[in-house]
Amino acid sequence: MKGVILAGGLGSRLLPLTRVTNKHLLPVYDRPMIFYPLQTLVNAGITDILLVTGGQSAGDFLRLLGNGTDFGLKHINYTYQEGERGIADALRLAEHFAGGQPICVVLGDNIIETNIIQACEKFGKQSGGAHIILKDVPDPERFGVPVFDGDRITRIEEKPKVSSSHYAVTGMYMYDATVFDRIRKLKPSGRGEFEISDVNNQYLADGTLTYSILSGWWTDAGTFESLRRATNLVAQGGANKIDVPGMV
Ligand code: DAU
Repeated sequence: MKGVILAGGLGSRLLPLTRVTNKHLLPVYDRPMIFYPLQTLVNAGITDILLVTGGQSAGDFLRLLGNGTDFGLKHINYTYQEGERGIADALRLAEHFAGGQPICVVLGDNIIETNIIQACEKFGKQSGGAHIILKDVPDPERFGVPVFDGDRITRIEEKPKVSSSHYAVTGMYMYDATVFDRIRKLKPSGRGEFEISDVNNQYLADGTLTYSILSGWWTDAGTFESLRRATNLVAQGGANKIDVPGMV
């Protein structure tokens, strides 16, 4: 399976930190935010990776990551998203890279303690469709939230005022090659974005979306509060980090 990291967008919720640099280059404890989703993919055995950047300082990703040798990679693919038109809009740029193969998508501000390899294996046994990873959280209204009927998801609501479960849909998704046709069918949401939850709801409607529940902690890092939490969680240890040459 190929991997895609979405690190576009303008990071407006972190202004002024993001006025002159990209959100995913900001530090989370002892390394740049983008290191964590990259490590998540590598830890799951995914080494053919596309990084979608955007906004400020796109060239700095190349200076920072190069061909990914710090992560044991031979090569990283890069592309650039104009504007901030949503996660699904950024993902559409991966169509050529995916080349008809299944993909594992990780949002550039998502950090986990453990590993998604079991979810990848579960998805690998499916004949197509999609797979999402859930995590129980105290503040589901900030995220995509699954609505359950028993243990079956019936719908995903994006940032509902009142959540109908205590799970968040984390920013780690697996898709078959139909994802790009599904993105073409999307209309912008009320906040003017092409929403990944609308993509997931299309798979749900077809009965081809499965899910796993993540063990260990998970956090995003796109607001001041979540960035602080991410920093604290990483500092306390346990994040899926590698030893980067040159770091003590
Ligand atoms: O973190 C998980 C949540 O991420 C999900 O539960 C939500 O369903 C999903 O919509 C998303 O919510 P956010 O509102 O937190 O997403 P945000 O706009 O902060 O974007 C998250 C990452 O996606 C960001 O770090 C980079 C990438 N992105 C985002 C946008 C809007 C892009 O690459 N391009 C974009 O245009």
